[in-house]
Amino acid sequence: MREVAVIGVGMTKFGELWDRSLRSLGIEAGAAAVNDAGIEGKDIDALYVGTMSPGRFVRQEHMAPIISEYSGLVDRHIPATRIESACASGGIALREGFMAVASGLHDIVVVGGAEKMTDVPGSVATDTLGMAADQEWEAAFGITFPGLYAMMARRHMHEYGTTKEQMAMVAVKNHKNATLNPKAHFPREITMEQALNSTMVADPLGLFDCSPVSDGAAAVVLAPLERAREFTDRPVVIAGSGQASDTIALHSRRDITTTDATVAAARMAYEMAGIEPKDVDFAEVHDCFTINEIIATEDLGFFKKGEGGKAVEEGRTQRDGEIPVNVSGGLKAKGHPVGATGIAQTVEAVLQLRGDAGKRQLKDVEIGLTHNIGGSGASCAVHIFKRGW
Ligand code: COA
Repeated sequence: MREVAVIGVGMTKFGELWDRSLRSLGIEAGAAAVNDAGIEGKDIDALYVGTMSPGRFVRQEHMAPIISEYSGLVDRHIPATRIESACASGGIALREGFMAVASGLHDIVVVGGAEKMTDVPGSVATDTLGMAADQEWEAAFGITFPGLYAMMARRHMHEYGTTKEQMAMVAVKNHKNATLNPKAHFPREITMEQALNSTMVADPLGLFDCSPVSDGAAAVVLAPLERAREFTDRPVVIAGSGQASDTIALHSRRDITTTDATVAAARMAYEMAGIEPKDVDFAEVHDCFTINEIIATEDLGFFKKGEGGKAVEEGRTQRDGEIPVNVSGGLKAKGHPVGATGIAQTVEAVLQLRGDAGKRQLKDVEIGLTHNIGGSGASCAVHIFKRGW
């Protein structure tokens, strides 16, 4: 297997981008990544696009050839493949691109993620997202994603004494982090009082426990490390890649306070990278709901099971804590255009490792981790990044 490096990154602003089309967002992010890598269209061997439900959101399926065509690559007839795995579409597209380069099948691969969610009414967005739950056992009875994560939160509170205050602290932290990110959907601070008193969405989760419905796109360019220096003197190596699955329906799970797909994907990624959780300097984790940041930091091995809430309270996941989590603002405040999220997490990891993260740059970071979940945890991708120079 060849070592694979990220040689270019790009992303659009996240938010309610009513004046933009899905394809224009994809092209903007892709062009930014291609320019950052210093490559040209003729260098690109293949394209992967992670997107969850463009058919429902903007009535356009078949997204990968469209992105290839509107990027000016149509005459080259490169393979262009769309990946769908609910909110993990981006992270799993990255893994597909990684495998294509690692295997030697392709050299220069562009992996993008995009979603345009705000052109439909909120009820349609909620219904569309709900299609990633089990239709026969969950969605048919009216459960939504906030509802599923609310059940996970209730059980976590019951088993481990996790509190609403600790979940609110995740939101306050991530909103504060987003003030340093010009691409964030909500680059504004919130107070504990606002978080705790926000409109109830699905008890115990209020508005500020939820990631928003967002538009946006992100892209990266991959190359074998042995060729990366033709393009950049700061390639970032994908040191570990893990992917795992689980039951879609929560009731079939061994334990709904853990996402076993995270545990399995993380184990795979740590093993490939030859590191342990304590070696990770910062992480972008899938905080689609505040409870899931707490669960993820336990399942990724940063904290013992049941201690994720306490760790937030003790400031251990703050920018200046022992393991900064979601310094980009996370899904909560940077935004969550579902198919784009896994790639946007990668963009953040690469910018931090290159020292290009501007005002939100962390000091002395060498290893970054990204964690991208589909639905309530039926699919998961974990990637580990380190400097390649
Ligand atoms: N966090 C912070 N602020 C939010 C927000 C969020 N998640 N969602 C909306 N807002 C803000 C809006 O900007 C708006 O503010 P304004 O009045 O100052 O302009 C206000 O809250 C109302 O926005 P609106 O779009 O009417 O909210 P909504 O009630 O339609 O949707 C949620 C709110 C929480 C239901 C929606 O964001 C949601 O469904 N989130 C979860 C998405 C999801 O499930 N993703 C998949 C995860 S697996």
